[in-house]
Amino acid sequence: MSRKTRPEVVVRMATPEDAAVCGRICFEAFSAINAAHGFPCDFPGPEHTGGLLSMMFASPDFYCVVAEVDGRIVGSNCLDERSAVRGVGPITIDPGAQNLGVGHKLMQAVMDRANERGAPGVRLVQAAFHNRSLSLYTSLGFDIREPLSCMQGQTVERSIPGCEVRPAKHADADACNALSWRVHGFDRGVDLAQAIEQGTARVVERGGRITGYTTHLAFFGHSTAETNVDLQALLASAESFAGPGILVPSRNSVLLRWCLANGLRVVQPMTLMSAGLYSDPSGAWLPSVLF
Ligand SMILES: CC(C)(COP(=O)(O)OP(=O)(O)OC[C@H]1O[C@@H](n2cnc3c(N)ncnc32)[C@H](O)[C@@H]1OP(=O)(O)O)[C@@H](O)C(=O)NCCC(=O)NCCS
Repeated sequence: MSRKTRPEVVVRMATPEDAAVCGRICFEAFSAINAAHGFPCDFPGPEHTGGLLSMMFASPDFYCVVAEVDGRIVGSNCLDERSAVRGVGPITIDPGAQNLGVGHKLMQAVMDRANERGAPGVRLVQAAFHNRSLSLYTSLGFDIREPLSCMQGQTVERSIPGCEVRPAKHADADACNALSWRVHGFDRGVDLAQAIEQGTARVVERGGRITGYTTHLAFFGHSTAETNVDLQALLASAESFAGPGILVPSRNSVLLRWCLANGLRVVQPMTLMSAGLYSDPSGAWLPSVLF
């Protein structure tokens, strides 16, 4: 379809009242694209995506926008503003309104916001099999940084000698944030504090020091560690990984091979992309689906 036939799109800030409609669109958009490629949907149902977006639309930590055509909502997008580096997603457009320039406008809206607020960089995780999102993000200036393998299961090894994993406490935050600075060059302290509050965060100690942490061993959690051994200890401590799975950087062959030897299965390939500041992490890490 040519640009001339594209609809007039109005982008506005999302409100919690928009969450049910956007949750349905989000579920239908992911179901359709994943099913078309033979992959399971990332979410169990529209109530789940509605609940997720309801939380994000109501939170001051996220900048969320919806797109309307003729007064009808056709899509939404969110920007995680909890750290200096921002994370985009989930972005979804009604399957009946895709490929008409709506996604472009919703991406531009959150990138403009990040620029206005002086964010040094913006990141996202893209479904590697999806030609359209790859093309859109690349055209908007995002670079591919890491191929990722979304993995699910329970590791055969249930602990790693010399490593002790325990729930994270607020008193651990400084050590975890310092570790994030060493590995990534910024911290994700707000994210971590919320995860400690929710009881999903864990730390690993080796030689009497904190050598790694996770906000949640899940699709929406990130993990940062000094070495692969520390990450392996965190992974081995999990009964299960919430949502579709954890995101393992596929170029970390040692870790990926360890995951495979431990019985984890690859669910789908994904790609970490970034615009603006990016430095290669110096340590071991798992991104969340936001980044
Ligand atoms: C991905 C998604 C958000 C994009 O939104 P959209 O409104 O469909 O996309 P747009 O029309 O704004 O932009 C798509 C661009 O990719 C281009 N494109 C699409 N398929 C392409 C291909 N195979 N090769 C090259 N370019 C392609 C289009 O031409 C368009 O570029 P243009 O604006 O310069 O013409 C939407 O399709 C969607 O919701 N998909 C399902 C859920 C999803 O995958 N979300 C993203 C998770 S990472």
